[in-house]
Order: sequence, then structure tokens, then C-alpha cells
Amino acid sequence: MKPAMRFAISDLRQRPEFFDTVADRIWQAWWKADGHPLDYISSRLRENMSAMTVPFALVAHDDGAFLGTASVIASDLVERPQFTPWVAAVWVEPQARQRGIGAALVDRATRDCFALGFSRAYLCARPQRTPYYERLGWTSIERNVGQHRLSVLIQDASPETGNISRSPP
Ligand SMILES: CC(C)(COP(=O)(O)OP(=O)(O)OC[C@H]1O[C@@H](n2cnc3c(N)ncnc32)[C@H](O)[C@@H]1OP(=O)(O)O)[C@@H](O)C(=O)NCCC(=O)NCCS
Repeated sequence: MKPAMRFAISDLRQRPEFFDTVADRIWQAWWKADGHPLDYISSRLRENMSAMTVPFALVAHDDGAFLGTASVIASDLVERPQFTPWVAAVWVEPQARQRGIGAALVDRATRDCFALGFSRAYLCARPQRTPYYERLGWTSIERNVGQHRLSVLIQDASPETGNISRSPP
């Protein structure tokens, strides 16, 4: 068991000093290899800084030390344009992994979707990452979508409370 790590989760709009680091990590993890410039990600991320609702980005941090990020965006899968919103771009710094920070970021992003009035949140994941999200209470509704054979997962708000309704064990 790894020791717990002290961290807080903030909206990036409240902690703009992390903007460049979040853009860098999203670019390195998902866009650089395809030849997209960092500026492309920065300008897309900048949309998160002004939106009143979706999109928005979260940042996990220990005071001024960046630990991870997650975003909520309107559309994440071109094959499924009818679904919105999506929890996306979940990233935890390598040295901070396996301490529950990824789970906390996903949980906070999902709760924020429900607090905005959405009754269902979506997430897409590569096959090897799908069990991780299922353990966090997400339900797979489709597999092998698109060229990356992504799974589509959902989490529903419970109608009474607006809280996450987890599948029975
Ligand atoms: C995927 C990712 C975000 C997970 O972040 P994380 O902070 O390590 O996630 P968690 O700590 O919540 O969970 C990771 C594992 O550690 C375990 N864990 C959580 N707290 C723990 C603790 N205190 N001690 C030991 N293990 C722990 C979890 O049970 C989980 O195990 P599992 O994978 O068997 O379910 C991170 O690995 C990452 O950034 N990867 C690269 C980017 C990526 O692939 N993003 C996902 C795109 S879909």
C-alpha cells in the first residue's frame, strides 16, 4: 500500500498558474506523437478558462506542486457526437500514481457534471484502461469503437440526490 499523499483538487480557472503544465501534459500524453503543436493544445485548453460550464479542467496539487489533471469536455469521440459531457484527459504525474489521485480527479469531474445538471457523464478508454474505470463505478456500454478500439463508459446521477449512483456489487 502506497502512503496517502496530501492533495487538493481545484478548478484550473481558480489556479491559472498550472495552465502551462496542464497543456504540456495533455500534449505530451495524447497529441505530440501525432505531430500536433503544443500551441494547438494551449488554445483549446484556453477555452476552459472562460467557459461558464463545459468545458472545464481540474488540477490536483499539493499547494504549488502539480500532481495531475482531468477535464470535462463536450465531445471526446467523433464516432459518438450525440453523447455529452465527457470526462477526459485524466493524467497523474508518474511519481504521484497509485495513491488514489486519479480516482479522486475522475470522481470530482463526474460530480461537477452532475452539479451542472447533467444526469449522465461519459468517458472513453483504451481496452487496457477500461477495468480501472469499471472499478471506479463506471459501466461499459460499448467496446471496440473507432480505430483505437475504445470502450465507452457511463456514470449516472441518482435522480433523488444528484449524487453518483454506483452499480450494485
Ligand atoms: C490512469 C492514471 C490517471 C491513474 O492515476 P492514479 O492516480 O495512479 O490512479 P489511482 O491511484 O486512482 O489508481 C491506480 C491504481 O492504484 C491503486 N491504488 C489507489 N490508491 C492506492 C494506494 N494508496 N496504494 C496502492 N495502490 C493504490 C488503485 O486501486 C488502482 O489500481 P488498479 O489500476 O488495479 O485499479 C495514471 O496512471 C496516468 O496518468 N496514466 C497515464 C495517462 C492515462 O493513461 N490516462 C487515462 C486515459 S483513459
